[in-house]
Amino acid sequence: MPKPHILQLGPYPEWDQTPLDAAFICHRLWEQADKLAYLRENADKIQAIATNGGLGAGADLIAACPNLQLIAIYGVGYDAVDLASCRARGISVTNTPDVLNGDCADLAVGMMLALARGIVPAEQHARSGAWKSAAFPLQRRVWGARVGILGMGRIGADVARRLEGFGMHIAYSARSAKPLPYSYISDPVALAEHADFLVVTALANAETHHIVNADVLRALGPQGFLINISRASNIDENALLDALESHSIAGAALDVFEQEPQINPRFLPLPNALLQPHHASGTTETRRAMGQLMRDNLAAWAAGKPLLTPVH
Ligand code: 8YV
Repeated sequence: MPKPHILQLGPYPEWDQTPLDAAFICHRLWEQADKLAYLRENADKIQAIATNGGLGAGADLIAACPNLQLIAIYGVGYDAVDLASCRARGISVTNTPDVLNGDCADLAVGMMLALARGIVPAEQHARSGAWKSAAFPLQRRVWGARVGILGMGRIGADVARRLEGFGMHIAYSARSAKPLPYSYISDPVALAEHADFLVVTALANAETHHIVNADVLRALGPQGFLINISRASNIDENALLDALESHSIAGAALDVFEQEPQINPRFLPLPNALLQPHHASGTTETRRAMGQLMRDNLAAWAAGKPLLTPVH
């Protein structure tokens, strides 16, 4: 059987690339100097796109590939894939849910602790010798505090389970209440009012765009911390920068940014911001599992079998 042609939008680790190259003819779009010319030349052959959460696949790219059957995402988020185009043309989309829940939850909790306890500046205090002339300033307590989880999906639930161990009072918002032992507060402003720590884990879509806005930040207040491991579009970044600059919230820990990998330079001088390079799923173990699941979806599609984790 001839190998199917797939359009690959970005690089994968060698442990994924080698088996992909063995099973498919991989067209490496990101390596092409003139991507449009390359697409014009090859688009007819492309039957599947292999992408990731950040790169997705926009309407123009989908329209350029007339024989496209599948978009396989290396990542759980599908907000960067134009689902309307896919639905209209019967193109399947797969993602890599569940395998990354634990790592994303670990990083959310790590960011929360690092931000509230000042772990990054404290390390600098110790390393620089500043400790010899002054004690490190007192920080804020995490255990026992009130947390609001915005978006109680699979990752949010893993964050909550971890925070139970910290004796935190857990509330959450979601489309509807779930059978969970936590308080359901559907309104994001009310959730922020309740919270010392507001942790954003919601998937991103038109409904959640800027769900954390100036009103939510005002409700979080000068003692409140924001943690975002979801998508930048869930937060009004300018409103957040205003809040951090004016200390109308206590601080923010962010793994995602509107223009990533560019970070708005207003963040850079802010000591109340903890900045991370979108690596919540970035462990060897999890990235291997994500790559395997993406490849299993591609293999199932190529064999005409049911997809493992289709996006509905
Ligand atoms: C990845 C992600 O960083 O799962 C997602 O939606 O954003 C992340 O896990 C990304 O997809 C890998 O490049």
